[in-house]
Amino acid sequence: MSTKVELGKSGLNINPIGFGANAIGGHNLYPNLDEDQNKQLLKYVIHSGIDFIDTAYVYGLGRSEELIGEVVKELGNRDQLVIASKGAQNGDDLDNSPEFLKQTVYESLKRLQTDYIDLFYIHFPDDHTPKDESVQALKELKDQGLIRSIGVSNFSLEQLKEANKNGDVDVFEGYYNLLHRDPENELFPYLRENDISFVPYFPFQSGLLTGKYNGDETFPEGDLRSGQEDFQGDKFQENIKKVEQLEKIATAKNTSIANVVLAFYLQIDVIDAVIPGAKRKEQVDSNLKTLDVTLTKDEAQLIDRIFS
Ligand SMILES: NC(=O)c1ccc[n+]([C@@H]2O[C@H](COP(=O)([O-])OP(=O)(O)OC[C@H]3O[C@@H](n4cnc5c(N)ncnc54)[C@H](OP(=O)(O)O)[C@@H]3O)[C@@H](O)[C@H]2O)c1
Repeated sequence: MSTKVELGKSGLNINPIGFGANAIGGHNLYPNLDEDQNKQLLKYVIHSGIDFIDTAYVYGLGRSEELIGEVVKELGNRDQLVIASKGAQNGDDLDNSPEFLKQTVYESLKRLQTDYIDLFYIHFPDDHTPKDESVQALKELKDQGLIRSIGVSNFSLEQLKEANKNGDVDVFEGYYNLLHRDPENELFPYLRENDISFVPYFPFQSGLLTGKYNGDETFPEGDLRSGQEDFQGDKFQENIKKVEQLEKIATAKNTSIANVVLAFYLQIDVIDAVIPGAKRKEQVDSNLKTLDVTLTKDEAQLIDRIFS
């Protein structure tokens, strides 16, 4: 079992190894999901001591939240879990209006069969609502006890600054991994100054950062990876070479590349927790082993240079 950490200033205490649940009921993202298997995996996740679950309306258009709600009800341990959800999708449009955000929280609460959501994120910015008004709506829900903390995701720095005018944003979820480090430049300093915790998504860049590819792979059309530059041509080969250099560090520490990568994120001051999207029990076990890995300053600097 882990030592818990506080997620920024949110007051939420969690195991730093969380679980990204977009493949739980996320039929629109992953074809051929088996819901019974999804529920079994989620039970395994929770029994293993993971208590921070990341979901969103858009993962299966409510289905991910519904399955999580069913599992938590069966297990009867709602108070031991920190559930994060997100909303902003209003049909085909993005909507950050106060009315819509309140409505989407009420609907998430129903699907999750819960009285409160620990962390609610505005999933994507729309292009018309002043972001401080959006956050004010969430603040009102927080004051009523319906949500416990406020997050935003996929916002630009400018949008975040507007959203955080009154200092109410607790968590920022954004695209970040060793191959995509832009947030380090301007976003992280702002988060640091404002005590906002950063939760990185795509921590493994679709598995590329776990060392499971050797560069010979090709991906069929329609596969997420076939459209990603990181998996094409010279870029793919360059990435493989970088990841291979992590092997030495992993071997010296008697651990895996995946664990070294997650440990690297957790030693960054603005990152308190990670939410890898484990698809199988072995991956859940493997990700939890990160808790046994502490990188030395030299190791972190070496990784920093490899992926500079
Ligand atoms: N806020 C947002 O807009 C946003 C956007 C995207 C994602 N998210 C959140 O972030 C979470 C994580 O993203 P993600 O799941 O898409 O990407 P990810 O964590 O970068 O990659 C997940 C893939 O990594 C592999 N994997 C996981 N653990 C592994 C291990 N220990 N060893 C080897 N391979 C391992 C699995 O690949 P295989 O399938 O090949 O086994 C899995 O499909 C999502 O579940 C979601 O909750 C948020």
